[in-house]
Amino acid sequence: MCGIFGYTGKRVVVETVLQGLKRLEYRGYDSAGIAGLHGDQLLFCKQVGKIDTLQERVQSEGMVLDLAIAHTRWATHGKPSDVNAHPHFDASGKLALVHNGIIENEAELKQELKKKGIAFTTDTDTEVIAKLIGWFYEGDLLRALKTALPLLKGAFALAMIHEEHPGKLIAVARQSPLLIGVGKGETFLSSDANAFASYTREVIPLSEGEVAILTASSIQIFNASLEMIEKERHELDMEIAAPTKGSFAHYTLKEIFEQPQAARNALLSHCDEEQGVAIFPEFRVMPLDAEFIQRLLIIACGTSFHAGLIASYSIEEMARIPVTVEIASEFRYKQPLILPGTLVVAISQSGETADTLAAVRLVKAQGFKVIGLCNVQGSTLAREADETIFLKAGPEVGVCSTKAFTSQLTVLTLLSLFLARYREMSREEGQRFIKELYQLPNQIQRILDQSDEIERIAKKYAHLSEVFFIGRNLMYPAALEAALKLKEISYINANAYPGGELKHGPLALISPESLLVALTAHEPTFDKIQSNIQEVKARGAAVLAICYEGEKRLEARVEDQLFIPRTRGVLTPILTTVALQLFAYYIAKERGASIDQPRNLAKSVSVE
Ligand code: BG6
Repeated sequence: MCGIFGYTGKRVVVETVLQGLKRLEYRGYDSAGIAGLHGDQLLFCKQVGKIDTLQERVQSEGMVLDLAIAHTRWATHGKPSDVNAHPHFDASGKLALVHNGIIENEAELKQELKKKGIAFTTDTDTEVIAKLIGWFYEGDLLRALKTALPLLKGAFALAMIHEEHPGKLIAVARQSPLLIGVGKGETFLSSDANAFASYTREVIPLSEGEVAILTASSIQIFNASLEMIEKERHELDMEIAAPTKGSFAHYTLKEIFEQPQAARNALLSHCDEEQGVAIFPEFRVMPLDAEFIQRLLIIACGTSFHAGLIASYSIEEMARIPVTVEIASEFRYKQPLILPGTLVVAISQSGETADTLAAVRLVKAQGFKVIGLCNVQGSTLAREADETIFLKAGPEVGVCSTKAFTSQLTVLTLLSLFLARYREMSREEGQRFIKELYQLPNQIQRILDQSDEIERIAKKYAHLSEVFFIGRNLMYPAALEAALKLKEISYINANAYPGGELKHGPLALISPESLLVALTAHEPTFDKIQSNIQEVKARGAAVLAICYEGEKRLEARVEDQLFIPRTRGVLTPILTTVALQLFAYYIAKERGASIDQPRNLAKSVSVE
């Protein structure tokens, strides 16, 4: 997934475009480039590496542009290199183009163009698009697009400029996010409205093969058959301040420490203490008729999928409603059996993950309503879901998801309470539950206050190349998430297993060099996880146990313990997760890893 930004207007173009691009760096950061027109001259600069290094270069070269497009890359086709960085050009070199998405039939198209004598200089699918449009271009760009676009298979967003069309930015979007920012005497283009929200709140999302021709003073939009259309403008009500690290060394650490507030925001306006119920005032068009909900289907990817898995335990336990949790990239390619009475919940921090969006479109096409759980206003999921619950966790910049995850768990626990009160749970029980929920922000803070101790323990194990996590019941998906965090930011090969599964294979991997992290804070299965720890200890491995405060039974059996406040079982994954996020962070820090922007990853992936 990549980030696209474009601008035409009175501001300093190069500065404005690179500042906008920096707000998109979470989408990919292996290489970056800018192209623009100065009069009728096309100028560009592109290279491997972060946007900061590109900025230094264009500033040292004194680049001046009248309008520009820019790109930050997450490589899909062709390795990160100066040559494969965007923009890419047609054979005449007059058309410059940047792209987010994947062209699935790029190889065939490339062959066809090569037979016509077109030469290629890069390994990217993007160059194929530029060369294809150039092949059909005879002075009328719209006509060339009309012929070229239908030949492209896949999801994509494009921005282009052409030497023979000074003053114009051309944009195209097909199932990949691209939004126009409407300014006074200026026009913006971006993969995410957040990147221009400090300049304008008026946006026009492009979709379904639409094409736009933008100048500083005009916006023309055409549908996929290139007929001119009018599109509704939306007003964004989002935070505009670019998130900063403040005094923290990394966004990831800052966001871990923002979790008490994120939990408060998630609880805000969702609890009716008097009635002992959870409420969702944001449900306008689709009242949540809990009586008719016979089962839930949760679809998501990555960390959001783990949130869904943990929620499946709390919803089944509290509301006695069966829950299926599907990895969206798998779900969309199986013929899913979705029974009547199913409530579908799509979880996505960014609201832009392509596989989750495709799964949403699949279930909607079968006539099911979808609730989105999302952290980004104006995102595609927020636009396409029937109702959206916003996390209000604030912008999450660190590529590995932290505060959004615990915020998702908090909201999903509220959903469990909502459904449970429509079934067996009494008002008094609901009131007690809300009281415990309100303890969450302080309990999270108590774990953050142990950060020095967590850092001490993390440093002990930072040299390892492999770490094992185990948990039972809802501690198993919590272990999956802890392993993912460690993988994402420290590059340690970390894997999680249900405690009872160790002896059915993974135990073969355990040796005196291994570390096992046991998530033991689940009373009903404590004895079982204790025997799993014994199995591993017998093979000489070290054990770090995450336990409830005051837990003495493991003291003599494990090397290290981390303690979390006692709370209700379904809330314990939130507290355990915060401790293990810090554990992963301090190991990554000790290893000098690029914590906010881990290699090969992106904040959300809008390509398949
Ligand atoms: C990945 C991120 O790209 O996408 C993960 O690195 C994230 O942190 C996953 O969990 C899913 O993203 P989202 O935005 O759909 O929750």
